[in-house]
Amino acid sequence: MPLVAVSELLWKADREGYAVGAFNANNMEIVQAIVKAAELENAPVIMQASQGALNYAGLCYITEMVKIAAESTHVPVALHLDHGTDFAQVVKCIRSGFTSVMYDGSKLPLEENIAMTKKVLEIARPIGVSVEAELGKIGGTEDHIHVSEREAMFTDPEEAKYFVEQTGVESLAVAIGTAHGQYKGEPKLDFERLAKIKELTRIPIVLHGSSGVPDESIRKAIELGVCKVNIDTNIREAFVGAMRKVIAEKPDEIDPRKILGPARDATVEIIREKIRIFGSSNKA
Ligand code: G3H
Ligand code: 13P
Ligand code: ZN
Repeated sequence: MPLVAVSELLWKADREGYAVGAFNANNMEIVQAIVKAAELENAPVIMQASQGALNYAGLCYITEMVKIAAESTHVPVALHLDHGTDFAQVVKCIRSGFTSVMYDGSKLPLEENIAMTKKVLEIARPIGVSVEAELGKIGGTEDHIHVSEREAMFTDPEEAKYFVEQTGVESLAVAIGTAHGQYKGEPKLDFERLAKIKELTRIPIVLHGSSGVPDESIRKAIELGVCKVNIDTNIREAFVGAMRKVIAEKPDEIDPRKILGPARDATVEIIREKIRIFGSSNKA
């Protein structure tokens, strides 16, 4: 079927108490793995591309690969821009056929983040493209900052209420203790804060930096209102881990298909596992 918008997937997830997996796609094998996993689980799925992925693979390649993947399956597939910080890039993605964009103004002062998010909504909403915003700073595990400093960057629930009222944004990425990349220790999520944000905003909440978050914490976050869960690092680990294994076992192998094929298979498995944890199996 044609690509679907993200907001319709998220509102259904919100009503039925599960989350839709949003998986980062950087190349053809990962696109194929995401759609295969979604098909095997009969689950809706979001393929997302970061600005880095677009620079690597090219906007038209990512768009066309994901469109072909969507058109060749019965499960709903959406194409989303992950962490769009550049307005011109956001517009290019919309024109290219993305059905959803994240405008990430989290590094901007509040009023500027609001103004820019509204500007994106003005062009996206009339043509049915969904918009995700970020409030608070999620950051990376590699950022060498103290826990108390990270907590200072957490999303403020009252500010989230104000942000949603001012912008009318459709979904919100929040900082509640997750970070992008591989965690050193076990991440501790601020569930009280999440519950308060949900109570005050009533819109689908997005969890970033979800690779490495214990399954139980993910389930609890979904119970409290998270409807989209972003996974990239676990895909990288599975994909490159399988490539490394083949190369170590068969150092003379020169056929890329014999290396990338197992990497694609390993990616299908990790994505299926995630879809089951998110409760979106059989929700297509
Ligand atoms: O949120 C970040 C994603 O993991 C994308 O990472 O910018 O290296 O593609 P990237
Ligand atoms: P991880 O790489 O930590 O899974 O985070 C992915 C993400 O949040 C993409 O926006
Ligand atoms: Zn992210």
